[in-house]
Amino acid sequence: MAGSHHLQQEVPRLQQKLFFVFIFAVVCASLYFFLSGFCDSSLMDTAKYLRQTSKLLPLTQLFQRKNATVEKTVTDFGLSTSSLIRSPGVPGAHIDNVGKDWAATRRLPQAIIIGVKKGGTRALLEFLRLHPDIRALGSEPHFFDRHYSRGLNWYRTVNLSGRTALLMLRSMMPRALEGQVVLEKTPRYFVTAESPGRIHTMSKEVKLIVVVRDPVTRAISDYTQIVSKTPGVPTFETLTFRNGTESELEVDTLWSPISIGLYALHLERWLAYFPLEQIHFVHGERLVSDPAGEVGRVQEFLGLQKIITDKHFYFNKTKGFPCLKKPEGSSKPHCLGQTKGRPHANIHPQVIHRLHQFYQPHNLRFYQMTGQDFGW
Ligand code: A3P
Repeated sequence: MAGSHHLQQEVPRLQQKLFFVFIFAVVCASLYFFLSGFCDSSLMDTAKYLRQTSKLLPLTQLFQRKNATVEKTVTDFGLSTSSLIRSPGVPGAHIDNVGKDWAATRRLPQAIIIGVKKGGTRALLEFLRLHPDIRALGSEPHFFDRHYSRGLNWYRTVNLSGRTALLMLRSMMPRALEGQVVLEKTPRYFVTAESPGRIHTMSKEVKLIVVVRDPVTRAISDYTQIVSKTPGVPTFETLTFRNGTESELEVDTLWSPISIGLYALHLERWLAYFPLEQIHFVHGERLVSDPAGEVGRVQEFLGLQKIITDKHFYFNKTKGFPCLKKPEGSSKPHCLGQTKGRPHANIHPQVIHRLHQFYQPHNLRFYQMTGQDFGW
């Protein structure tokens, strides 16, 4: 009797102890993830990566496996390993880097796609990801426009934005080897007044890429997106023109679908910080009609070997756009999602004509500034 009574007293105590041990373990694990995210430095990166990988495979096997992965990517796209010999500015860097993943670190970007919204920025990023010497961030970090006060270390290592914010910490910049180009895209940078100065403070050498497209089509594309997110918004015409009597329609340059297309105006701010040679303009229309040609010029601009070619693309008749035969990390053909390349809102031809007239002097100025005629 006394024994069972004693046992009845002990069980709750044991349960209580187990509960505290469990809570302690959870707190420790959370702290570990929290600190490993925030204190991410080059040294810690390397050490952590070594610790993780050595648990899984002996180093020699790991190197063999990584070599095999690189080989697979290469043969998947009909390339020979010899075509990978050169890396940006470092002849032979790619071959030298094979099997040196432990040396990969998180770095600030060497190249940024700064704009323009609805120009074809997602397509360009997805295409560039095929290059073995490009390490691109998939999401838009919005560091230089929205999160600048968080500091460069946050930008390099930690991503607190989006749905994951309260749940876990995600890495921001991907790990990259020496010679690889770290790339991010945030189209809003192009039109944010503070971005040029802030990016210049981060790096004077960073390479900037802008995908431009006929500003009229771009505005309609932008409006189509607004309607898809907020049904019931006023018509395109209503939002485009102010004080509108038919004869004296004034274009509302404060409405963002219109103002984003004033490329010359925005470019002026960038040229106050960066020389023109450091900014590459991708022709948005040609990115659709000749993706390999446009991506080829970007590879050249980034100092990379032309590895992404015609072989990587096919024209998908249903979508009406070029798609990838085999995107990064997959063996299946892949087109961009439904929000990219969707049918546009119907706009009266007169409105389109009026807008073309409006943009004409701005476009001409943009052609003069860039030394390129985009033919809009
Ligand atoms: P539309 O949806 O108006 O056609 P962004 O990624 O900068 O938001 O740009 C979206 C635009 O990318 C699309 O606008 C589409 O025209 C263009 N685009 C360029 N190449 C594309 C591709 N291969 N697939 C889908 N859209 C592409």
